Amino acid sequence: MTTPDFDEIIDRRGTHSAKWDGMEAYYGVSPDDGLPMWVADMDFRPPACVTRALQDYIDHGVFGYFGDDAAYRASIGWWMQERHGWQIDTGAVFSTHGLVNGTGLCLQAFTEPGDGVVLFTPVYHAFARVIRAAGRKVVECPLALTEGRYEMDFASYDAQMTGNEKLLILCSPHNPGGRVWSAEELRALADFAIRHDLVVVSDEIHSDLILPGARHLPMAVACPDISDRLVMMTATTKTFNLAGAHVGNVIIHDPDLRRRFETVMTANGISPNSFALHAATAAYSPEGAAWVEALCDYLDGNRKLFDEGINAIPGVTSMKLEGTYLAWVDFSGTGMEATEVQRRIEKDARIAVNYGESFGLGGETYQRFNLATPRARVAEAVERMQKAFADLQ
Ligand SMILES: Cc1ncc(COP(=O)(O)O)c(C=O)c1O
Repeated sequence: MTTPDFDEIIDRRGTHSAKWDGMEAYYGVSPDDGLPMWVADMDFRPPACVTRALQDYIDHGVFGYFGDDAAYRASIGWWMQERHGWQIDTGAVFSTHGLVNGTGLCLQAFTEPGDGVVLFTPVYHAFARVIRAAGRKVVECPLALTEGRYEMDFASYDAQMTGNEKLLILCSPHNPGGRVWSAEELRALADFAIRHDLVVVSDEIHSDLILPGARHLPMAVACPDISDRLVMMTATTKTFNLAGAHVGNVIIHDPDLRRRFETVMTANGISPNSFALHAATAAYSPEGAAWVEALCDYLDGNRKLFDEGINAIPGVTSMKLEGTYLAWVDFSGTGMEATEVQRRIEKDARIAVNYGESFGLGGETYQRFNLATPRARVAEAVERMQKAFADLQ
């Protein structure tokens, strides 16, 4: 593999990029001089093996329906075993149009309108959006902050349960905040799910983006005894920057859960996108794995640079990430209203970020910054932030 050049500045403007070309409409920040640090995709090209696979497909030039997915399934089996020590039944994989789609399908398959769905907040905002749109109830269980990192507090969640809850969504690693959950934490979560008879949907989309020092443990490996209530979700899209391909793996080993999910897939007419499956098959390969190693090292360098510069602003604290490239920054120590923090970030620093309040209870004083961009841009963002909050020095 040729060494990836993550420092290369690739102009994404005018490519229908949500992150770049959608920024002005959302934030009033022009992509000409603004820094988009919101939408969770990366400003990098995927590994060459992915581009080659897509190029070969395009060169062939006939784009019919995808079939014979044995290689695709085998690549997922290989990746999960090799990277995560998780042996899967490749026949248990459903290919959905991404994991938000997978979440929506799980709600249809395993809950009824009016049922409660447990989230550990603050958490990825699309979960609540999909739950509410499906007529289910969001049950927000706030994460506890212990020594600057998130922890789950099951004693208080036990007291919150009413019996109406049917499903919980675990975000592992957690977005935002970047927690990589430990074996003990996953065990406690599994016991909580058993106590309250909940289906567990474990969204592990960020599980390949683990920073040095941490190790991801798939829920299915940590707690195989809850296989009869467990739905695992993984994807190539965050890992390899293929989010536009909208493809995800929903892996269900329990035959009853699988049958219910399959019915919903059929009812919604979900079948694979051929471009996405060519890309995903190529990604889960030794070349893809080497690229991910290099990527995680690079992201760790970005994280260090960002944290050092941001934490130097009085009253501002960036949570120490164990995984993901999404810095989670607390502005509560500045004493400013969130609207003033956001005004300074957008108008003065000309940066677009995700607002903390959109992640649910506990996110109100935070803003989320996407660090998956060439390091020079991270350095520029830090400099602009220091200027925008210079009066606090
Ligand atoms: C936890 C989590 N799940 C799902 C997604 C999006 O998944 P998809 O693009 O496959 O719908 C994201 C994107 O940031 C995410 O953070």
